[in-house]
Amino acid sequence: MFEVVILTVMSELTQNEFDTLLPLISLEKQERIRKFHFFQDARNCLLGDVLARVEICRATGLSNKHLEFSVNSYGKPFLADSSHVYFNISHAGHYITCVIADESVGIDIELIKPVNLIIAERFFTPDETEYVMAGDYTFRFYEVWTKKESRIKWEGKGLHKTLPSFSVFEPNEQITYYEAFHNDEAICHVCSKKQIAPSVRVSDVTTFIRSIVFSYEQNLD
Ligand SMILES: CC(C)(COP(=O)(O)OP(=O)(O)OC[C@H]1O[C@@H](n2cnc3c(N)ncnc32)[C@H](O)[C@@H]1OP(=O)(O)O)[C@@H](O)C(=O)NCCC(=O)NCCS
Repeated sequence: MFEVVILTVMSELTQNEFDTLLPLISLEKQERIRKFHFFQDARNCLLGDVLARVEICRATGLSNKHLEFSVNSYGKPFLADSSHVYFNISHAGHYITCVIADESVGIDIELIKPVNLIIAERFFTPDETEYVMAGDYTFRFYEVWTKKESRIKWEGKGLHKTLPSFSVFEPNEQITYYEAFHNDEAICHVCSKKQIAPSVRVSDVTTFIRSIVFSYEQNLD
């Protein structure tokens, strides 16, 4: 099991859709979502959680009401009652993504925007900076950035592992970076010990919500 799903929000969630999805997640997370200042942050946080739940239910056959998410001391969510399913979530702009696997995983998606290369010099190692400067530097910046973030998220210790403390070009027999997605707007990398690339599905949020409502009526209660 090694699957990535990428949701794109092409038309904004209606209040009705938002209200339909909200009860699918924990009361604690609902509380957190209600406190967001910006709707986009609330929407992305909600969709990330629901997406993870849907994918875990699909992969395990478990019912959503039996899924309990917990977080480690650095905030990385995990499935509390199963050591065999791992997931990670990332969101940026109108993209929400989730990876699930049978071992630890990290994922990062970023919008490709103009970059300030001072950030590369500050957060990247010299070999990473050299790589960024040597080609299409906007794309390469986000390529390196999403690899680094996915590695940090794989490890799950947040920024206790600092970005300049490792290079994505260091040979590492344990982990591999997989490009899950890229287009003109965004790029996404996954970090894992898995030796085969993940399967990747891209879906728009309207289709996703339709399938949820259907599943909810069936068994996602
Ligand atoms: C929190 C962090 C793990 C990722 O943050 P991010 O890139 O802003 O956000 P993403 O959308 O990729 O990921 C958010 C999700 O990661 C998950 N997450 C949270 N803490 C995590 C951790 N320690 N490890 C792995 N995943 C984590 C959660 O599911 C979270 O989703 P939620 O907020 O909807 O619950 C962390 O690496 C971070 O703070 N990064 C910011 C880097 C930074 O500040 N760099 C400074 C340069 S300007």
